[in-house]
Amino acid sequence: MLAEFGDTIELRLLTTTLQQTLGYVPPPAVPLLAEKTGLERAQVFEFIESDAQLSFKPPGRHRVAICLGKNCSQRGAATLAEEAMRTLGIDSFRVTADFAVRLESFYCFGRCKDGPNVLIDEEIHGTMTSAKLTELLRGVLATG
Ligand code: FES
Repeated sequence: MLAEFGDTIELRLLTTTLQQTLGYVPPPAVPLLAEKTGLERAQVFEFIESDAQLSFKPPGRHRVAICLGKNCSQRGAATLAEEAMRTLGIDSFRVTADFAVRLESFYCFGRCKDGPNVLIDEEIHGTMTSAKLTELLRGVLATG
């Protein structure tokens, strides 16, 4: 049992590295991950499927991350996250069907005094409001 726990830790490390490097875990990597960790392919597949922060789908062309850190949350970030999900038609850590946008939650960009903050691609937008976010998201969707 301890050996299997160790394999899961290694799988967590490998999948997280792939996710952070490529933006997703390519399905062809499953057999390699299984071989490397000593787990069954089905176990690897199930592990990735069950973790909301891992995805088999390529990332969107645009990344939208809503800060749900303490300070941003106290300033209405949860409402912004709901607004983003509604506008994009996806849950957090999912990609729109056309791969235009990946929506994520984040926990503190280190810009708390400007919160609530939303990252769109490489730019952090502070003092976010629902109206401003909707306008920004519509702009992102319009550019594809
Ligand atoms: S809590 Fe949102 S930037 Fe720090």
